[in-house]
Amino acid sequence: MNLTELNRVATAMVAPGKGILAADESSGTIKKRFDAIGVESTEASRRDYREMLFRSKEAMSQYISGVILYDETIWQDAKDGTPLVKLIEQAGAIPGIKVDEGTQALPMCPGETVTIGLDKLAERLKKYYERGARFAKWRAVIDIGSGIPSMTAISVNAHALARYAALCQAAQIVPIVEPEVLMDGDHDVDRCYDVTQRVLNKTFQELRVQRVALEGMVLKPNMAISGKTCAKQASVEEVAEKTIRLLKACVPAAVSGIAFLSGGQSDEEATAHLNAMHKLGPLPWGLTFSYGRALQAAPQKAWSGKAENVTAGQRAFSHRARMNGLAAKGEWQSSLEQKAA
Ligand code: 13P
Repeated sequence: MNLTELNRVATAMVAPGKGILAADESSGTIKKRFDAIGVESTEASRRDYREMLFRSKEAMSQYISGVILYDETIWQDAKDGTPLVKLIEQAGAIPGIKVDEGTQALPMCPGETVTIGLDKLAERLKKYYERGARFAKWRAVIDIGSGIPSMTAISVNAHALARYAALCQAAQIVPIVEPEVLMDGDHDVDRCYDVTQRVLNKTFQELRVQRVALEGMVLKPNMAISGKTCAKQASVEEVAEKTIRLLKACVPAAVSGIAFLSGGQSDEEATAHLNAMHKLGPLPWGLTFSYGRALQAAPQKAWSGKAENVTAGQRAFSHRARMNGLAAKGEWQSSLEQKAA
């Protein structure tokens, strides 16, 4: 393992004013997104859509540090035969790959899951590295509900995240460690804070036990945020203040960077929260976005599967990327959104 090189990549992933595009929807998830815009999900339509994003010059060269791909996409070529991975590299961004294989019911723990995909992971990582991937992602899912999460679910998921992270670093790939506490439910922001604290503490304990180098990884957490159906929604300032307090308490300064998931927040909420956190700086780690839905909802709608809408789709993507790039420096203002509209 070359830690200097891992650290270089991890630092580039959270470079000031840049963040990560999570375009790693599984075939099932992208079908749901395409259903919503009336587009049939085929290998070709998935390729066309992602090619549109990766060819968005402004977004990709100025605001996007890296792109998380799904297995199908990393092997796909653009219409003109250029590998999609090459398009990302040519724009100056780093290709990454989702390597977990989704969740499975956790025995003895009703309603809870564990993320799977460790079998043969070392061999898969080798092939992804050869194809150009320099970082990877593994997502653990923790649900909040009555009596859950159990310590069992937190513990097995943290263990798997650390197993994955160690395998990545041995393969010279930067692991994105993603323990996602879901926003679903009517719990308040303080319950989210408490659960996320337990999850992060357990995750870093496992990372230490399994000798993962914190300087060569990126953490992808949820924010401390109210449940979607909670009657009392925390303000932007409260989310920012509690999230930073939580991360300072749980995430060692040696960690190269933190890149949030959007998790079902609206586009603008996700931007406003990141921006408000930067107003609370200086921070010990790079802090940015690794958004899926909050970066792609607008371009998906603008594109709607039509070749004549590619420019509109790219414009919508570049706008969201720029807004989040500004937020990653604390330089975003809501008036910038209205101007664009
Ligand atoms: P969202 O931003 O849509 O939550 O997706 C990010 C991601 O990669 C979740 O694993």
